[in-house]
Amino acid sequence: MSTFWSVFIILLVVVNIVGCVWLLWWTSRRRPGEGETTGHVWDGDIREYNKPLPRWWINLFYLTIVFTLGYLIWYPGAGSFAGTSGWTSAKQHDAERDVEEAKTAEALAPYANQPIDQLAADPKAVEYGRAVFAANCATCHGSDARGAKGFPNLTDHSWQWGGDPQTVLTTILEGRQAAMPPFAALLGSDQAVLETAVYVQSLSGTPVDPALAAAGKPRFDMVCIACHGPEGKGNPALGAPDLTDDVWLYGSDFDTIRTAIVQGRAGMMPAHRDLIGETRARLVGAWVWSQSRSADSEGHGGGHGGEAAP
Ligand code: HEC
Ligand code: HEC
Repeated sequence: MSTFWSVFIILLVVVNIVGCVWLLWWTSRRRPGEGETTGHVWDGDIREYNKPLPRWWINLFYLTIVFTLGYLIWYPGAGSFAGTSGWTSAKQHDAERDVEEAKTAEALAPYANQPIDQLAADPKAVEYGRAVFAANCATCHGSDARGAKGFPNLTDHSWQWGGDPQTVLTTILEGRQAAMPPFAALLGSDQAVLETAVYVQSLSGTPVDPALAAAGKPRFDMVCIACHGPEGKGNPALGAPDLTDDVWLYGSDFDTIRTAIVQGRAGMMPAHRDLIGETRARLVGAWVWSQSRSADSEGHGGGHGGEAAP
């Protein structure tokens, strides 16, 4: 605060306080020559009594002014004068934050450095992880972790980047950047793109025109197997999805597959190490892990990546 504004505010405060004192004094004073009534008369004989506020009541007002002065000496308020107590809102905030952080650190301590499959066996840790998920992941993956178009379902068996505990944890901590470049130019013609897309559809058992699929196979073998593998089963090291299962990140219809080929795909899972810290990442990993385990015990492959989402 510049000196000008500081002085301006101090003056404003002082003028206000002095003004209040003066007003109190002026209104409670009895004016000489006035009697029991104010001198106002209506209808010939109705008079207004002059009843000042009771003394104790007025003294309460004086007390509030004394309180104000004390307050302005103890706390910051009068311009840039810092107050004798040394209190600042920033210090109070820091102190409260330190208390909260200490509490959180204490609550998290038992889970530090534990593998997520081990944490998944501890119901308290899993419950904690569920809360971390709701606060940090549900915006993208959905509150039930079943994902949406472009955001993978985390409760199924199908893992784009790998589903063992350590790999899931790495995904959460370091994030993932998928990179499938556009391939329309390399394939050369709209017809070639169409045939390749139809062949991809056939991989997961969609009924297609066999002639088109047969024409697409050599193109797929030339361009796509580098990442998606010779049988189209994907490669977790590159985040290249399995194209033969019924789980789709973007969708299994012709247009969506064609778009992947023509425009490429670059899904990104943000790194969460700095956002939530390692222990919370382990806890949320444990919850995610336990979700996909419970899909296991139900004995089916979980939901579909894209289309099944609300
Ligand atoms: C350089 C590696 C690479 C090559 C080559 C590649 N892809 Fe991909 N593909 C990926 C990656 C990585 C993803 C995941 C993209 C994402 O998560 O956003 C992907 C995703 C896809 C998807 C979306 C799957 C879904 O679940 O929705 C389709 C379809 C696809 N690729 C088809 C193809 C076809 C057809 C070719 C050959 C023309 C091809 N890809 C070549 C790496 C590759
Ligand atoms: C900003 C949106 C966003 C947020 C927030 C987010 N994710 Fe993701 N996540 C994604 C996307 C997009 C992908 C798919 C990346 C790709 O295309 O390969 C992904 C992929 C993943 C994968 C890999 C799935 C697989 O099949 O390999 C896991 C595990 C995961 N996320 C867990 C989490 C957890 C746990 C959180 C919260 C701590 C979280 N994500 C927060 C967008 C997000």
